[in-house]
Amino acid sequence: MATSSPNTARPRLTVLTGASSGLGAALAPLLARDGDTVVITARRLENLEALAARIRESGGKAVPIALDVGDHAAVVSTFQRVEAEFGPVDTLICNAGIGDPTPATRFLAADIERIFRTNVLGVANCIEAVLPGMISRKAGHLVGVSSLAGYRGLPGSGGYAASKAAVTNLLESLRVELQNHRVAVTTITPGFIRTPMTARNRFPMPFLMDVDEAAALMHEGIRARATQVAFPWQLASIVKSARFLPNLIYDRALRARRAEKG
Ligand SMILES: NC(=O)c1ccc[n+]([C@@H]2O[C@H](COP(=O)([O-])OP(=O)(O)OC[C@H]3O[C@@H](n4cnc5c(N)ncnc54)[C@H](OP(=O)(O)O)[C@@H]3O)[C@@H](O)[C@H]2O)c1
Repeated sequence: MATSSPNTARPRLTVLTGASSGLGAALAPLLARDGDTVVITARRLENLEALAARIRESGGKAVPIALDVGDHAAVVSTFQRVEAEFGPVDTLICNAGIGDPTPATRFLAADIERIFRTNVLGVANCIEAVLPGMISRKAGHLVGVSSLAGYRGLPGSGGYAASKAAVTNLLESLRVELQNHRVAVTTITPGFIRTPMTARNRFPMPFLMDVDEAAALMHEGIRARATQVAFPWQLASIVKSARFLPNLIYDRALRARRAEKG
């Protein structure tokens, strides 16, 4: 009797966090169009249900699930349920994030904790839920949405910048280690993208990119299993070069930007 492993017979299973708006909501239909079963998660279930309905109308498969990525127990039980119903997760895309300002004049450790709980522990919680299975199957793909903001300190947004530096370093460490286990790791570092997160910014956002264009670049990089996807290229080049600027010059440039913000 012929048998087929569920791995080869079933569509690829992708879990995407932060799918209720912005980049996640724009990326999910592209993944579904490839034939993936896409589990779309975030806290606002009504947004996820509307997105899932749109994806289904165009012939794709999306499963909306409410999930707070900062809640370790909820993440563990949700991934167990998902894997019991649909099989092993092939691709995990950790996209959920918050970007509240943390100015020095109103500095509260609680604000830093809240940002880290979503942006850093949220990523760690989801990775913990899928990684043992990926390692034992010698297959899988971890994707994390970090930011160009993680390259150097950012006045007014220290909590966010620090959280994204942590995500970038965590993913890079895992990437190297997991090469022996055939688990791929992709780090996505967007610049300014037009989403609800940036809609409230009152300062100039150089090379601001449309969300669909950004999602298309993320999709392309994920499919290519690129190690890093950075965009827009102009800001990515500036930010990467700025790592090598002496503090004196970096501080002066950033103070001027701060003054522009008011
Ligand atoms: N927009 C940019 O310029 C930019 C630049 C660089 C990096 N990024 C990163 O890109 C990612 C997506 O951001 P975006 O711009 O698309 O912003 P967004 O529209 O505000 O989307 C953020 C998403 O994260 C979800 N989320 C927030 N806290 C969560 C939690 N505790 N548990 C589960 N989901 C949570 C939100 O859903 P719920 O509120 O429904 O939970 C929402 O779906 C973030 O990681 C962000 O840091 C954005």
